[in-house]
Amino acid sequence: MARIVVTGGTGYIGSHTVVCLMQQGYDVVIVDNLSNSNTGVLDGIAAITGKRPTFENLDCMDFMSMSRLFSRYTDIEAIIHFAASKAVNESVEKPLMYYRNNISSLVSVLDLMHQFNVNNIVFSSSCTVYGQPDKDHLPVDETAPIKKALSPYGNTKQINEEIILDEAHANPKMKATILRYFNPIGAHPSAMIGELPNGVPQNLLPYLTQTAAGIRPKLRVFGNDYNTPDGSCIRDYIYVMDLARAHVQAVERMLKKKSQEQVEIFNLGTGRGLSVLELISLFEKATGVKVPYEIVARREGDIEQVWADPTKANTVLGWKADTPIEDVLVSAWNWEKRIRNI
Ligand code: UFG
Repeated sequence: MARIVVTGGTGYIGSHTVVCLMQQGYDVVIVDNLSNSNTGVLDGIAAITGKRPTFENLDCMDFMSMSRLFSRYTDIEAIIHFAASKAVNESVEKPLMYYRNNISSLVSVLDLMHQFNVNNIVFSSSCTVYGQPDKDHLPVDETAPIKKALSPYGNTKQINEEIILDEAHANPKMKATILRYFNPIGAHPSAMIGELPNGVPQNLLPYLTQTAAGIRPKLRVFGNDYNTPDGSCIRDYIYVMDLARAHVQAVERMLKKKSQEQVEIFNLGTGRGLSVLELISLFEKATGVKVPYEIVARREGDIEQVWADPTKANTVLGWKADTPIEDVLVSAWNWEKRIRNI
């Protein structure tokens, strides 16, 4: 079965995708420098799939080591490039780190793909490229304008997409699928892998489950004075396993040469917007656990509301995010309980 290199494969979305790929029979090589993960994730993947994936402890920016990897594995059919720094706040404080990591790692990967005649890449992008879409562009589809990024992180994703388009133009053999994720949440149903942020979580779901577990006293809801029905921000929360599946389908589409286009872009979301307060209430109903919270000031840089129009992914990729939100929230809670021995 085809060999796929997954950069960032021990990370949150990467690890769930590796599980799906292995279960479909793909031969996976994970490349990760463990900057925001650990080798325990490999144990989790092995527990689920019955097989330990090949793991290369490498930094994608280390061109020489990456070059040796491409020479060693001569039968790579596609790369899924997750490896990147991804915290919006951190990117504001350390912009150069974000530009260096996120841009030079992609440039190295594309350069080596060209050199070694590896022609398929799936790239992790983000709905952050749309900024705050105009009201008449909600839900947001792939034709919505790309606005000026609100953070260095967002800017790196925009620049990454441009780099891919330019390289595709210069190299007719190359094919790319750019996946723009909305807000991934949840964990594998086995609770053997999940989201494990370092330090205090920045994202809503890990903060919420840590609060439910008693690790944090209160969840802070950033603002209830937005122009939304209950005043809190609206996002499109997508189950990480549904998202993982989309990567397998994107790889299959490229390997089977189903697309006429060199670069395809898909929004990956559910098509349903949920507010922060709705999500808290759904979590409490689904798990029976109360989440203490308080309303605090707005968080700088937050987008008021964004959710996906996933029609293109539904029809062209044949993919749909269909896991009920209650099951997704229970999976996140089961993971939190397992890692905290609750
Ligand atoms: N929120 C809270 N309290 C928290 C954390 C978050 O109220 O403790 C709120 C935020 O204000 C926002 C919503 O929950 O309204 C979701 O916030 P997240 O931080 O979970 O997610 P974001 O939508 O801000 O960011 C995510 C990814 C980014 C990506 C962005 C694209 O983390 O990588 O989506 O919009 F760029």
